[in-house]
Amino acid sequence: MTTDWLSESVPPGVNVTDAEMAALGAQDAVYNELLEMGERRAGLPKPYWEEPGITIYHGCAREILPLLPRSGLILTDPPYGVGKDYGELSSDTVENFVAAVRLVLEMGLPTAMFFPVTRIYDIPVKPQWMGVWEKDWGGSGLIAYPFYPHWEPIGFWNIKGDYRGNCGHRNDVFKFASVRPESNGHPTPKPLELVAELLSFMPCKGTVTDPYMGSGTTLLAAKQLRRPAVGIEIEERWCSLAVERLRQAVLPLEPAAPAPEQLELMP
Ligand SMILES: C[S@@+](CC[C@H](N)C(=O)[O-])C[C@H]1O[C@@H](n2cnc3c(N)ncnc32)[C@H](O)[C@@H]1O
Repeated sequence: MTTDWLSESVPPGVNVTDAEMAALGAQDAVYNELLEMGERRAGLPKPYWEEPGITIYHGCAREILPLLPRSGLILTDPPYGVGKDYGELSSDTVENFVAAVRLVLEMGLPTAMFFPVTRIYDIPVKPQWMGVWEKDWGGSGLIAYPFYPHWEPIGFWNIKGDYRGNCGHRNDVFKFASVRPESNGHPTPKPLELVAELLSFMPCKGTVTDPYMGSGTTLLAAKQLRRPAVGIEIEERWCSLAVERLRQAVLPLEPAAPAPEQLELMP
């Protein structure tokens, strides 16, 4: 619901200049934005977990993500469409993978998203940049091909900007050892160090949202970097695992102070 109540409230016969009318219009826009934000938040379920700066929603990303405030960035790792068993509510099909990518990109935020080599041509919106997670060991090969994958693509969207300065660029190959599933119980956990490195290099510094949270690696990385974060996960057991990991997180004593040359480059 939107309204023009401020600009419509000028009584007939009262002369209003164009500048005054424009100011009233701007107030309408702010009012409507706050109204919509309130309406969206009102539809959100009660968080599964809350601690300072971190919120977890247990539910379907399709239902919850559109209700969250559109701010910050998305860093996520949706089910790859390769038939993994995450639980009863989650179905790891190609159709669901494509729908997840679409949903995330509809938010229009700076986004970093993992996907498998075998799904590159299923991505519905071309990334602005493609990075590489180079692993120490690969997955098992496909019988029809002579290779086994030793890397995973990382797509980046809405990140184009002005990154002049020597703290604004990094090579796009992220070399980090894989994490074996049995390390935390989730079938496909991402390495914490990889996610933390990605997060610290994403251009936007606002809230980090991971709508396909799994065992909570993105939230843990955000917590360690002292960044606000929101996670969504459809399977209750992974929400519970994420909470356990967050509870056990050991934080660095102080955030690292930026080097003087970085300070000069900060906006
Ligand atoms: C590839 S895993 C994410 C792993 C995560 N990066 C980690 O390090 O643990 C994808 C997760 O998305 C969850 N999922 C699947 N469908 C979902 C949906 N519709 N809404 C929210 N979560 C969903 C699965 O249960 C699974 O835990």
